[in-house]
Amino acid sequence: MWMRRPTRFVMLGTAYALLAAGAASAAFAQDQLRVASPDGRNEVTVEVREGRLQYGLRRSGRIIVMPSVLGFEFKGAPRLRDSLRIVGSSKSTTDTTWTQPWGEVARIRDHHNELRVSVVEAVAPQRRFDVVFRAFNDGVGFRYEFPAQPALDEFEITDELTQFSMANEARTWWIPSNISRLDRSEMLYASSPVSRVDSVQTPLTMESQDGTFIVIHEANLVNYPRMFLAGPREQGRTLRAALAPWKDGIKVRGHTPFQTPWRTIQLASRAEDLAPSVLGLNLNPPNVLPSTEWIKPMKYVGIWWGMHIGTMTWSSGAKHGATTENTKRYIDFAAANGIGGVLVEGWNIGWDGDWIKNGEVFSFTQPYPDYDLKGLAAYARSKGVKLIAHNETSGGTVNYEKQMDSAFALYQSLGIDAIKSGYVADTTPEGHSHYSQFMVRHHRKVIETAAKYHIMLDVHEPIHDTGERRTYPNMMSREGARGMEYNAWGGEGGNPPEHETILFFTRLLAGPMDFTPGVFDILIERGTGRPRRPDEPRIRTTLAKQLALYITIYSPVQMAADLPENYEKQPAFQFIRDVKVDWDTTRVLHGKIGDYVVVARKARNSPEWFIGAMTDEEARTFDVPLSFLPAGPSYVAEIYADGPNAHWLTNPLPVTISSRPVNSTSRLRIAMAPGGGQAIRIRPAR
Ligand code: NOJ
Repeated sequence: MWMRRPTRFVMLGTAYALLAAGAASAAFAQDQLRVASPDGRNEVTVEVREGRLQYGLRRSGRIIVMPSVLGFEFKGAPRLRDSLRIVGSSKSTTDTTWTQPWGEVARIRDHHNELRVSVVEAVAPQRRFDVVFRAFNDGVGFRYEFPAQPALDEFEITDELTQFSMANEARTWWIPSNISRLDRSEMLYASSPVSRVDSVQTPLTMESQDGTFIVIHEANLVNYPRMFLAGPREQGRTLRAALAPWKDGIKVRGHTPFQTPWRTIQLASRAEDLAPSVLGLNLNPPNVLPSTEWIKPMKYVGIWWGMHIGTMTWSSGAKHGATTENTKRYIDFAAANGIGGVLVEGWNIGWDGDWIKNGEVFSFTQPYPDYDLKGLAAYARSKGVKLIAHNETSGGTVNYEKQMDSAFALYQSLGIDAIKSGYVADTTPEGHSHYSQFMVRHHRKVIETAAKYHIMLDVHEPIHDTGERRTYPNMMSREGARGMEYNAWGGEGGNPPEHETILFFTRLLAGPMDFTPGVFDILIERGTGRPRRPDEPRIRTTLAKQLALYITIYSPVQMAADLPENYEKQPAFQFIRDVKVDWDTTRVLHGKIGDYVVVARKARNSPEWFIGAMTDEEARTFDVPLSFLPAGPSYVAEIYADGPNAHWLTNPLPVTISSRPVNSTSRLRIAMAPGGGQAIRIRPAR
């Protein structure tokens, strides 16, 4: 069901002629334009003051964003900011519901009111643009649209001047950005008042003093660089858009007609209402793929963790992980345990030497001699398992793009329909930022080419997620934050116990994350037999929390990351066998950023529900009514809880497995150890 009601209420046909009045006219204050969300709570105001176009945002009458400036700096052309005039506007309403092929929820309602504001420079060169605002019940989005025009044809943008002037001293959770060519996203989160923020990445999650949750991010990032936020550095509370550069410092190269990504401000009155976040999805174009039945969420195992803990190598030699024999072992293990995919890293020529410098060297079709690609693909097929090809590029996008068609065609011919790619590099070999327009274009090309060959993507060291999966549902998952691997070798002793409870309300609001959960060998001894000291990198969770991550950290491709031998004879592995990876419904039952999350999800096309609960270094207990279950039917709750005296640091392994009959009137007491968690499967009683 959808409805669109355009109402064009100020379109001055003679507007451009009026501009002859010149700069003086820009000094007049113009009427404020407004658009509110369908529930009336979120209201955007737009006006020109002293020649500057500004927007503001209120929620339930309270100011969230104070009047904030919009505009651009160009190379070789005047700044587009100071002599602007609104010359027209129009409004429309959309109310439509669409179904995701996979996701945290099956059906999503896109209900918003739109305000299009047409703006002209009151002085030469009289450039024109529109700013389109969409007000939803869960936040707002806006973007700039430049029509084709003689005054603005080819251009180079050196800065986007969009501001977010926060109304009060919100608390923020952030990872830094140095807004140079050397940015990366695999960092631990910090928290500070917004006035102390320097330069940060998005999604930037904030809690304002009146308890409103605010998340600034972007949607539909196409042919434009990634946005960071430059902080106020104690000069107020105004955050500014900052774009990742090409090597020469230019941010955007383009020609009109042109549009920017959406700048999004998600709003919620409770932390629990932030997830699942669908604002960005609603601001992306609908699916363009003619068919999606080949796109299938799955669990996978892989020749992977061994390299990170040093028992195997990507490179050839005695410890080479990607051998035919080893891969068969993983295929057999996957087949025996109902796991759909087997990732193999280090199978292809290019890993010898310092692989991080091999961006120009990697082959994406030629296997090492001890890896029988074709034979293994056939073996996997015979076992009902799929191989997942690994394409580490080390940032060598030109080398990758040259081989992409032939590689993807080869994979398709072998029945390989998923790729994990990687971009380990500080900048591209050409010197562009990892997050520049150059890289955004590259990633879009990979998504489109993969779609052509019916290949699903899981991207590591990606550009952050801006909702591409709506348009290209083969764009499944990505990394883009500190995942499990940091527990093998990362600084600061690995990810601290609070890490995942922050990720849930920050990185995960952008989209799925391939965190790679499920490591049972928590003390990671790197084959030495020596228990790790507390200050050395190691997993800082209990084993039950490893299970909970399958529910809390959403990904449609979800790894069982440990070595198969570490799952043998482990009763808790049953949960990984049983857990689903595609959801019909998601309900966040309890959540506090950096402290805890309790989330319930109903599996897609199945009556089963799952609950995942995780805590930081504090032990916590929650009383959870199962009123989300349909009234009537009887269920069995299979509970994987922290065992007696479990503790992430001193005693991470005990898990108590129990089951009990439940129905919609039951309550579960979820008790978690310090750094612990709980995973629950709720299945119909037989
Ligand atoms: C970093 C990725 O995050 C990791 O999963 C992968 O094993 C290595 N790069 C090698 O590609």
